[in-house]
Amino acid sequence: DAGETKMMIEAHALLKKFYHHLLVNTKEGQEAFDYLQTRGWTREMIDQFEIGYAPDSRDFAVKLLLGRGFSPSLMEKAGLIIRKENGDYVDRFRHRIMFPIHNHHGDAVGFSGRLLGEGQPKYLNSPETPIFHKGSILYNFHQARLHIRKHQEAVLLEGFADVISAVQAGVAHSVATMGTALTEEHARILRRNVDTVIICYDGDASGIEATFRAAKLLADAGCHVKVATIPDGLDPDEYIKKYGAARFQRDIIDASSSLMTFKMMYFRRGKNLQNENDKIRYIEEVLREISKLPNPIEWDYYLRQLAEEFSLSLSALQEQLNRYKGTVK
Ligand code: CTP
Ligand code: MN
Ligand code: MN
Ligand code: MN
Ligand code: MN
Repeated sequence: DAGETKMMIEAHALLKKFYHHLLVNTKEGQEAFDYLQTRGWTREMIDQFEIGYAPDSRDFAVKLLLGRGFSPSLMEKAGLIIRKENGDYVDRFRHRIMFPIHNHHGDAVGFSGRLLGEGQPKYLNSPETPIFHKGSILYNFHQARLHIRKHQEAVLLEGFADVISAVQAGVAHSVATMGTALTEEHARILRRNVDTVIICYDGDASGIEATFRAAKLLADAGCHVKVATIPDGLDPDEYIKKYGAARFQRDIIDASSSLMTFKMMYFRRGKNLQNENDKIRYIEEVLREISKLPNPIEWDYYLRQLAEEFSLSLSALQEQLNRYKGTVK
């Protein structure tokens, strides 16, 4: 109900403020602050994203929240504390870097806590609660929205670190899903705010697979999809650390390609296009994709591209395309 929602949001606001204070002002938070420095994030970003530190205590949040009169069962429902078998309440987040997650109005409604080093689970997230639905929240959407509208474009990344580094690099219209795959709801939210979405997932195998899925969902929602690919298996955060903001902007974001071009690059991987069999397989895979495009101008454009590259007649490609069109869907 409305009263409970309001209390849960207040509790998140309070806890977020304390976690941030511990990180930036106290000795307890020094190790976490040092860790963030090694990641290259400026104090300005730490403040803007309201990053914090959950101390290595079993009941820091419990004491703080209950001391302020929040009901323990409500705080458990909000995912901030956990009730043990014996009835004791303990903190969910301990000794972690805390990333508050805001809803689209800008209220903190959940947290993700990262380990200060390596280990499992790397990120611990708030559970689904009455105010926190991972499937309908995009990280940083509340801050990115105006930039998204202004640029008429959104950049979709995989994780928190990628968003923070991208924003620090000047790409303010960046958002991310949180570990979960992009949902139809996410796609609808993006579509309501923008025509073009640039998918810029990690350059590893799972990022590439996820790009295909996200692209389909976004295209089905009516978005114009572009793909920015990161080389060498790096993720956007790592790329920015390694090559800097200017190259990220120029060589990755500005150089993003159409979805079809991305698919063509994907189909080329592991093939030797000098080899007859590989070449034929490649052409068939591309034709199959072209046949799924809704727009005859696009068919024509990519068919010409294929014909040119492989010195084939446009009519032969056209004929094969028509066969595929009869068989898809
Ligand atoms: N994620 C998660 N739980 C995990 C691992 C990942 O919720 N145990 C989510 C986080 O939102 C993370 C995103 O999935 O940001 C992408 O995962 P990954 O690429 O593995 O992490 P990075 O974002 O690269 O994290 P970092 O740079 O901090 O290592
Ligand atoms: Mn901007
Ligand atoms: Mn990843
Ligand atoms: Mn990553
Ligand atoms: Mn990373």
